[in-house]
Amino acid sequence: MKSIISEQIPLSVPYLSGREWEYVKNCLDSSWVSTAGSFVSDFERVVAKYTGCEYGIAVMNGTSALHLALKIMGVKPEEEVIVPTITFIASINSIKYVGAHPVFMDADQYYNIDPMKTVGFLLNETYQKDKCCYNKRTNRKIAAIMPVHVFGNAVDIETLVNVCNELNILIVEDATESIGTRYISGKYAGKHTGSIGDIGCISFNGNKIITTGAGGMIITDNPEYAEKAKYFSTQAKDDEIRFIHNDVGYNYRMTNVQAAIGLAQMENLDNYINTKEKNYTKYKNEIDSIPGLRLNETPPYAKNNNWMYALQINEKIYNLDIESTISLLSKRMIQSRPIWYPNHLQLPYMNEFSYNIQNALELHKATINLPCSVNLTELQINHIINSLKNK
Ligand SMILES: Cc1ncc(COP(=O)(O)O)c(C=O)c1O
Repeated sequence: MKSIISEQIPLSVPYLSGREWEYVKNCLDSSWVSTAGSFVSDFERVVAKYTGCEYGIAVMNGTSALHLALKIMGVKPEEEVIVPTITFIASINSIKYVGAHPVFMDADQYYNIDPMKTVGFLLNETYQKDKCCYNKRTNRKIAAIMPVHVFGNAVDIETLVNVCNELNILIVEDATESIGTRYISGKYAGKHTGSIGDIGCISFNGNKIITTGAGGMIITDNPEYAEKAKYFSTQAKDDEIRFIHNDVGYNYRMTNVQAAIGLAQMENLDNYINTKEKNYTKYKNEIDSIPGLRLNETPPYAKNNNWMYALQINEKIYNLDIESTISLLSKRMIQSRPIWYPNHLQLPYMNEFSYNIQNALELHKATINLPCSVNLTELQINHIINSLKNK
């Protein structure tokens, strides 16, 4: 097949098409380049309002947001946090940072934590003591659950919230990939991912739908959590002038330059979501007609931000497995990648508790991610589709 593409098509790169230059220039001209500065509070206010939360606390990345969230919710060493095995390892590492243990759950058809299996585990494999939930197999307290809205797909959170409330389990939503995704039916219709649990965490890493280079945010309606997030992300200063610190804090705050970029990106988020939806539909219409291939479905109960596209390959019908498909695409200047290796099999975590994991392994064997940048051109999408058709 003759290539019409002269440059590599990357998986997911930033699109800086708005007022980023103007706002960053403002930081440079005024010398407000560090963690103080009005762009940080403006960015926090805009993200909180957009997601329907009372508070936004900007931090240096999504990982630090998750770590802080677990810390300020009070998750303690030797307690447990339920988490899906299919997620970026940062979700799991944040649990380790507070000394807690992950409890790994299987994936549903949207790559998210399987809500029915999770509820099955909670109802059959745990017990209550002093109004807290304990894992029957480990006898450790299950302090929290971390549903991850994988690839921008909203988790079926309603099913989880009901049971978690009953069992006294806190919810921290890993909404690092899903800013802009909101529920359209059920009890949470109109609500954004990240705004339903006790705390939500967003990432603005360079590969996300909007970026600050690196960056993250904690969103919450809880004033105590918001205050603690600010306190712990700025070295736990009790007296700024006299350097009094009554706790161990972190240097996790976002800079004004990052927030300046983020503010400009927020102005275009809805446009980017529309573009991503259009591109998803184009990919889906064409790919689903290729024998053995299918683009991921999106949950019917939410409007997705369509951050990342997942191509599912039936290797018996398509006659190529995921590795061979990745090589084929690479030869045609298209970057693709397998999805994350299931975390319950990773070296640091293989001895942790996992519950009946099956579908996640199937999904991992059969899925690759396709280019999804906002600035993908029609020519590039056609080239990707034709490359998959004419192997
Ligand atoms: C699911 C998930 N969780 C956590 C993170 C961590 O975010 P960051 O890279 O901003 O630290 C990411 C993104 O990179 C992610 O995709």
